[in-house]
Amino acid sequence: MYLNIILQCLLIAYVHSLSAHPVLIVVSYDAFRYNFFDTKLVPNMERLKKSGTYADHLLNVFPTKTFPNHHSIATGLYPEVHGVVGNSYYDPDVKKVLKIGYEMFHYDENIKPIWRLNEDQGNGRYSGTMMWPGASYPYQSQNITYVKDFEPGYDWHKRVDTVISWIKNPDKPANLVMLYFEEPDAHGHAFGPNSEVVKDLIRKLDNITLYLEQQLKQHELTDKVNVMHLSDHGMIGVTPPNFINITQYMTNGTYEWAGASPCIQIVPHEGYEEQIYSSLKTASVTNGHFKVYKKQDFPKRWYYKKNPRSPPILVMADVGYALDDLIIAAPKYAEHFNFTLTNSSEFGVHGYDYNVTDMHPFFMARGPKIKPRHKVAPFNTVDLFNLFTEILEIPQTPNNGTFGNIVDILVEKHGQYSVGSILIISVGGVVIALVLITVAAIITLVMIKRRQNMTTVAALNKRFPQTFQNNVIEAQHLLESEEA
Ligand SMILES: *[C@@H]1O[C@H](CO)[C@@H](O)[C@H](O)[C@H]1NC(C)=O
Ligand SMILES: *[C@@H]1O[C@H](CO)[C@@H](O)[C@H](O)[C@H]1NC(C)=O
Ligand SMILES: *[C@@H]1O[C@H](CO)[C@@H](O)[C@H](O)[C@H]1NC(C)=O
Ligand SMILES: *[C@@H]1O[C@H](CO)[C@@H](O)[C@H](O)[C@H]1NC(C)=O
Ligand SMILES: *[C@@H]1O[C@H](CO)[C@@H](O)[C@H](O)[C@H]1NC(C)=O
Ligand SMILES: *[C@@H]1O[C@H](CO)[C@@H](O)[C@H](O)[C@H]1NC(C)=O
Ligand SMILES: *[C@@H]1O[C@H](CO)[C@@H](O)[C@H](O)[C@H]1NC(C)=O
Ligand SMILES: *[C@@H]1O[C@H](CO)[C@@H](O)[C@H](O)[C@H]1NC(C)=O
Ligand SMILES: [Zn+2]
Repeated sequence: MYLNIILQCLLIAYVHSLSAHPVLIVVSYDAFRYNFFDTKLVPNMERLKKSGTYADHLLNVFPTKTFPNHHSIATGLYPEVHGVVGNSYYDPDVKKVLKIGYEMFHYDENIKPIWRLNEDQGNGRYSGTMMWPGASYPYQSQNITYVKDFEPGYDWHKRVDTVISWIKNPDKPANLVMLYFEEPDAHGHAFGPNSEVVKDLIRKLDNITLYLEQQLKQHELTDKVNVMHLSDHGMIGVTPPNFINITQYMTNGTYEWAGASPCIQIVPHEGYEEQIYSSLKTASVTNGHFKVYKKQDFPKRWYYKKNPRSPPILVMADVGYALDDLIIAAPKYAEHFNFTLTNSSEFGVHGYDYNVTDMHPFFMARGPKIKPRHKVAPFNTVDLFNLFTEILEIPQTPNNGTFGNIVDILVEKHGQYSVGSILIISVGGVVIALVLITVAAIITLVMIKRRQNMTTVAALNKRFPQTFQNNVIEAQHLLESEEA
């Protein structure tokens, strides 16, 4: 009874500007390789990394592509389980190659990404997704409260401002936000990860990380919000002499082709399976710079074969090599970005085995639930889901993560609240008296803060009119699936 009153008061105290639940922001920087931290281009990220908990790198999922990895982050499941087996894939149900879209992320209707799971706990929990791949679709026929669909080039500061406004929303404060930046991936593909263009983008990303921290500070959220920064995969530079033409080893019209360098999914038409496999296999030996796998031979640790969407045959270029799609794309990049294509032009490639060092993503986090100045051993991308549910204090759903891998990141485990409650009850009467006096003050504060919130949202509305008209914002464009 006492406890109840106190909890109610605490709730009122929080409601004025922030969710009463633990708050988590997850920020993903597409293709931000783990060792971009060694470039001296990221002083702010470096400082942030040292202030909280970090790992030298993460072990991501196969293939080391954007959509499979983002969905593994969001679900804690391997691609063979969630069904996002590539940035595009051949769907045996509809018998065609599918690119990013609703179907890609709905292989199994029972799977709930973290944003859906969070809102389903009800009780004032709201999720927001800022351009997160796969997050602009309903799951189990329900949208979450705040969605901004992918829009390439959309102002980065605006993304951060919008995220803050979701968290500060007086009526439906978000307690989970997933924030996505498509760089340095988008330009990295055209210029390579070692280019000046990518270096500039890394500096700019370091700057936006600082901006997020500054905004949190300005809104007095620094000590209340847990923030995680990570990436989906790394990237390596490949030059045209290392592009391999594999279509020459197959007969036109006898197979379907899906995916992009370095891993191409081949789906032979009925009756051509052996012919295509043996031809590619022979060529791989002669050429020496790519490998060919039958589905049954995919390494077990890829967790990639137990799904009808995963291909009967996979061609994997060796590290530093690429396949036909880059032969076609390279001159297009050169034309689009107005540079001269030469044998030393570098193009960015990812998708190799996750044990390839240059494919490793990074991880760092800070906040009230995260250990300060702490380093943990590299862990798996699929482990992150357990970290999210633990921070958000929501029940886990079955997943492929290992809880033990992330427990050392957390300040303390569940249970702190019941201990706190017991303490409060024991001080009982005295506290109640104090609380009653403070309630009046709090209510006054709430009213003041609400007015401030209105002002903030009103100001943002003026600056970015289209952003705040609706909770759910319509898509303008879709990500070019194979460039992700
Ligand atoms: C979810 O949002 C989309 C896009 O705004 C909309 O078309 C759809 O009707 C919404 N679905 C539900 C169940 O609200
Ligand atoms: C860095 O961020 C600030 C805002 O925090 C902005 O004014 C400035 O233009 C940014 N600089 C670059 C190089 O992006
Ligand atoms: C580019 O590389 C290819 C393959 O290695 C070679 O045949 C060609 O001569 C090179 N072109 C130039 C301009 O160096
Ligand atoms: C690969 O080689 C075949 C046969 O020589 C040719 O028809 C095809 O255009 C080549 N593919 C590319 C992408 O250059
Ligand atoms: C390959 O076959 C398709 C139809 O199956 C045809 O449209 C295409 O022009 C053919 N390409 C070549 C290079 O022969
Ligand atoms: C493309 O680059 C060349 C040489 O750098 C320059 O002269 C030309 O103006 C550029 N064209 C465009 C459309 O930017
Ligand atoms: C990745 O693992 C395979 C065995 O599955 C091994 O052959 C290969 O050398 C490993 N590569 C790296 C870079 O560790
Ligand atoms: C991954 O998790 C799913 C859901 O619990 C389960 O069905 C599947 O067997 C797991 N896969 C592995 C390799 O443990
Ligand atoms: Zn990419």
